[in-house]
Amino acid sequence: MVAPVLGFSKKTKDQKIQWLAETCFVEEPLAVEVLKKYWNSDSKLQGLHDDFIENTISNYYLPLGVAPNFLINNSLLTLPMVTEESSVVAAASNAAKFWLDKGGFTAKVISTQKNGQIHIDFFGLESKLQSFFSEVKHKLVQSIDALQKNMQKRGGGLTDISLVNSTNSLEGYYQLHCTFETLDAMGANFINSCLEKIAKTFEVEAHDYVPFKNDTTFPEVVLSILSNAVPECLVRAEVYCPTTLLSTNEIDGAVFAKKFVRAVAIAKVEPRRAVTHNKGIMNGVDALVLATGNDFRAVEAGAHSYACKDGKYTSLTDAKVENGIFSFWIEIPLALGTVGGLTGLHPLVKLAFSMLQKPNAKELMEIVAVAGLAQNFAAVKSLVTTGIQKGHMKMHLMNILNQLETSKTEKDQALAYFTNETITHSSVLSFIEQLRS
Ligand code: MEV
Repeated sequence: MVAPVLGFSKKTKDQKIQWLAETCFVEEPLAVEVLKKYWNSDSKLQGLHDDFIENTISNYYLPLGVAPNFLINNSLLTLPMVTEESSVVAAASNAAKFWLDKGGFTAKVISTQKNGQIHIDFFGLESKLQSFFSEVKHKLVQSIDALQKNMQKRGGGLTDISLVNSTNSLEGYYQLHCTFETLDAMGANFINSCLEKIAKTFEVEAHDYVPFKNDTTFPEVVLSILSNAVPECLVRAEVYCPTTLLSTNEIDGAVFAKKFVRAVAIAKVEPRRAVTHNKGIMNGVDALVLATGNDFRAVEAGAHSYACKDGKYTSLTDAKVENGIFSFWIEIPLALGTVGGLTGLHPLVKLAFSMLQKPNAKELMEIVAVAGLAQNFAAVKSLVTTGIQKGHMKMHLMNILNQLETSKTEKDQALAYFTNETITHSSVLSFIEQLRS
């Protein structure tokens, strides 16, 4: 067993690696070499990455791919996508191309409100807390004047604070529900700083409030934090066309549309299918969120909580055929930023923004929602026609070949052979074994 290590974060990067070599990697003589292979030779660039988090020992690469031909609100865009899943970028590109000559995607931000809560314990009379809150509300707002000066100058900031009685859910539990407009910033740091300051002011004022002093029952702050549930920061994206335009060599457009709508209807009513259906959406969403240096965990948490906002987990997309027109749309909450965080820091994130024509946060919300819709379209299209394995394994073939450490010639031969053959790990293995014998 490894002994605990104290003061690890104070060690230099080399010392940390040395410690790992002596504890975790004793049976892996190449471990240190591998870690260092992934260092960037530009020490300034490496230093930048070292400083993103604590205890950096190396860089962890994920591919940055691009999906061209996305027509979104009449602008043609190439989307930067970071993902480890072989078929995601290919599927997005196919969906983009499919909709390119059918009017493309339209997207519109519905709302941009963020929120956070100061969670409070209070076991006294509710009316007393209400009176206190009414009296000090302006002081709570004033206390963040300095914090929100710049945000307000640009038209954002705190929009409201309300006292919420949550004692029905938990005895003595109240909240100060705070709403914010954070413009082009995702706003997590801004919101959390504001909440913590408001919470401090709230406690100080409460201790000076005579009616609380008289019966010595003070409200106490338990914790203050933004919420990643952002149902009021919502965007809608959509595609539509006559069903006749959906026809391909393999399937009639009306038949395809009917199957597609049915598949979405299943994801609407069956949570087990909805989870996978939405996972497919997040394949596209996360890839864009990662490429633009945004917080994909926040986006995931918000999206899945929205998917069960009515008490049952359901699909984030919907589809219908009406009067011969097929339409397919998504409504998804997205708390994204185009300033702050990694956006101005990570050189590849900067390039991702240039590729997207430097969108503001609302435009980025629209683009990301489209990526989710496109990804879901590609997945469901495959699922109701060929099944996904054909395309998926085609893209995964290269991973299997790399795992088998094939040469360039072997790869070329395998790619040619498997154009019309079913790809499985064992079929590729036996093909390569045959080649080698
Ligand atoms: C795979 O990453 C995503 C899918 O499973 C999504 C879906 O089933 O809709 C193909």
